[in-house]
Amino acid sequence: MTPLVAALAGDGIGPEVTTEALRVLDAVAARHELAVTVEHAPIGGAAMDAEGASFPARTQALVSRADAVLLGAVGGPRWDDPGAADRPERGLLALRRHLGTYANIRPVRALPIAAQFSPLKPERIAGVDLVVVRELTGGLYFGAKRRHVRPDGIEEASEDCTYTAPEVERVVRVAGRLARTRRGKVTSVDKANVLETSRLWRTVAARVMREEFPDLEYEVVLVDACAMHLVQRPSRFDVIVTENLFGDILTDEASVLAGSIGLLPSASLGDPRPGGTHPVGLYEPIHGSAPDLAGQGRANPIGAILSVAMMLRASFGHAAAAEAVEGAVEAALADGARTAELCLPGETPRSTRDVGEMVIARLRG
Ligand code: IPM
Ligand code: MN
Repeated sequence: MTPLVAALAGDGIGPEVTTEALRVLDAVAARHELAVTVEHAPIGGAAMDAEGASFPARTQALVSRADAVLLGAVGGPRWDDPGAADRPERGLLALRRHLGTYANIRPVRALPIAAQFSPLKPERIAGVDLVVVRELTGGLYFGAKRRHVRPDGIEEASEDCTYTAPEVERVVRVAGRLARTRRGKVTSVDKANVLETSRLWRTVAARVMREEFPDLEYEVVLVDACAMHLVQRPSRFDVIVTENLFGDILTDEASVLAGSIGLLPSASLGDPRPGGTHPVGLYEPIHGSAPDLAGQGRANPIGAILSVAMMLRASFGHAAAAEAVEGAVEAALADGARTAELCLPGETPRSTRDVGEMVIARLRG
């Protein structure tokens, strides 16, 4: 059966960058004789406008049938009412939960171009090649939330942070397997000096690493220290594995190392469906919806395009096609496929479409 890709463009710059990513997918599929079908459905604010819900039934039905999901971005000031019952971000969280994509893989590599645009000194970012494996379906994001006015009249809000041992085990396994294909080092990040969930995380992670990955180098770093090391000595990291909220924060920080958040892809993987061979995957650039850039052709589509490369590798087992996309992106960047945030004063930025075109032109058969 032809694999099915669900395309959920979402809000802001989401539609522009997914359009280019899908054009690259089309081009690489044709060259590698890989048939894929693409079907579109709404998510986030666009879905709230069109169907009255951030993750509507139609979208749920599509992603349940799909072999992979490509997402643009969600959110924007139009839907920012803190009192609203639904929010674009809720749609994304519900999608992650629905798919069971518990391991969010965010690679950060300092491409040659990064040296010019990273706020860090070139010698600091030289050799940076790390991957954050962020737990994606647990922790504070999904804990029970409460908000009320106390009898003394003071407003109070709280949410629970919960992790189970199996939830920690499975994501640490993803990190261990990934490290075996790389430089063989895993760093587990927690806040075990304060949080009970982190103490469980640390115990379980150590056991999994000892029993199942004794061949790997393993270390534990507190999240505050990790935030510091990421700017002081980022090249010491290979694979970082951490819980949901820490991973959210650390990956925005780490993205600065690459020169632009617009360059960075991500894959969120779950277990294969019954009878399936490849994990269910959700692929998205790590940047947000950037409402101020929307509709102007100024967004960098490379994060979305590289997300397609991750899809080809992880969901379709097609390493050659993935490498073709990655190679084309590097060649296009070297040839000046740069949107505004990657231009020096006086350089003319390329449009979102131009960058897509330049990547397609450099795809090899
Ligand atoms: C991300 C985003 C999301 C998150 C938001 C949009 C809900 O920041 O993918 O990192 O916090 O997970
Ligand atoms: Mn984030």
